[in-house]
Amino acid sequence: MSDTESFFGDPDPIFADKELLRVSHLPEGDRIIGRDEEFTNLANAIKDAQRGGTPNNVLIYGKTGTGKSLCSKYITQDLTEAAAENDVRVDVAYIDCFQDSTETQAVRTIAESFNEPDVTGVKVPASGVSTSDYYRRLWKILDVRLDVGIIILDEIDKLEDDNVLMQLSRAAEAGKVEDSTLGIIGISNKIRYKETLNERVKSSLSERDFVFPPYDANQLRAILNSRADAFREGVLDDDVIPKVAALAAKEHGDARKAIDILRYSGEIADEHDDDRVRVEYVDEAHEREEEARLAELIGKQPEHSKYLLQGLALQMQQSTDTDAMIPSKQVYSAYEVVCVNAKEPIRSKSVASATSSPNLRFSR
Ligand SMILES: Nc1ncnc2c1ncn2[C@@H]1O[C@H](COP(=O)(O)OP(=O)(O)OP(=O)(O)O)[C@@H](O)[C@H]1O
Ligand SMILES: [Mg+2]
Repeated sequence: MSDTESFFGDPDPIFADKELLRVSHLPEGDRIIGRDEEFTNLANAIKDAQRGGTPNNVLIYGKTGTGKSLCSKYITQDLTEAAAENDVRVDVAYIDCFQDSTETQAVRTIAESFNEPDVTGVKVPASGVSTSDYYRRLWKILDVRLDVGIIILDEIDKLEDDNVLMQLSRAAEAGKVEDSTLGIIGISNKIRYKETLNERVKSSLSERDFVFPPYDANQLRAILNSRADAFREGVLDDDVIPKVAALAAKEHGDARKAIDILRYSGEIADEHDDDRVRVEYVDEAHEREEEARLAELIGKQPEHSKYLLQGLALQMQQSTDTDAMIPSKQVYSAYEVVCVNAKEPIRSKSVASATSSPNLRFSR
């Protein structure tokens, strides 16, 4: 191989800044489209924190990709900056409850994200500390370092129980914190989440409830247009964004889906060595997005649900019928085979109840 040859090729011919099309990217305020009313409502709910007062606790609902996480992060960052101008110390802890679903994990991550060990003199070890000790450390960190701690509990319905919500929502009233106060923003796409809470937690947690509606095609188009500079100038054909927006609007007005399909369209153009992102790549990008979404969804399932699905898939593969009726007994047998291959004990009751209907119909 010659000295000048590189496996990484020339600069990206399609993307100028692909990061703009990543879900983790937090856009600037002027790139957040169609959420003025939601921002105003959220700001009103938490504005007391700007002067060191206790913000209202908030629950935000809405389907996937409606900007719940984005708007919560943006508004709390804005609040932190506005408070700093009043010499009020506000900080935000963002917790993904899917990752930190137990009480101990959640309180530890909250304490760690608020902590600045040089200021507080408190350590938050990764393990070896009891849950109540993590709480004690959290209360101390809050009192020493902050006037207001805002805790965003994203995917709040994934918490294993209400204990952490009970503790956090009662911290000030129970005298756990004296020189600081707390606000909680809970986010869920399960509209009935509140019904699962005990009365005490419910009333303190949902002082304000907001529902984020899905985006329509025009809003999705504006969201995508505001990120079109992710692409090099002139590579994006004019009809690509309208087509992606229309597809995503048809399927629940999901901005994440729209952004992912646009990114995949660019990647597919690159794979074809094309220097233009053409509208004909959008359908393939759509399929790729659906596969990735499904893989993510399955990946989040408990192990035995995955085995059951695998059993089902095997049965489907063996069937020549495109609209197959597969007896659940047969699915269960396939599940048993998958378990044996994976050297896992076979579950009976939970799996049997998951396949309680006598026949399952699947279409290809
Ligand atoms: N109004 C908007 N303007 C610009 N970008 C947006 C807007 N709403 C959402 N997005 C983008 O769409 C993607 C999904 O948004 P977000 O993660 O906030 O959705 P969500 O409602 O939290 O979804 P989920 O319930 O699946 O977690 C992110 O990349 C986000 O930056
Ligand atoms: Mg989210």
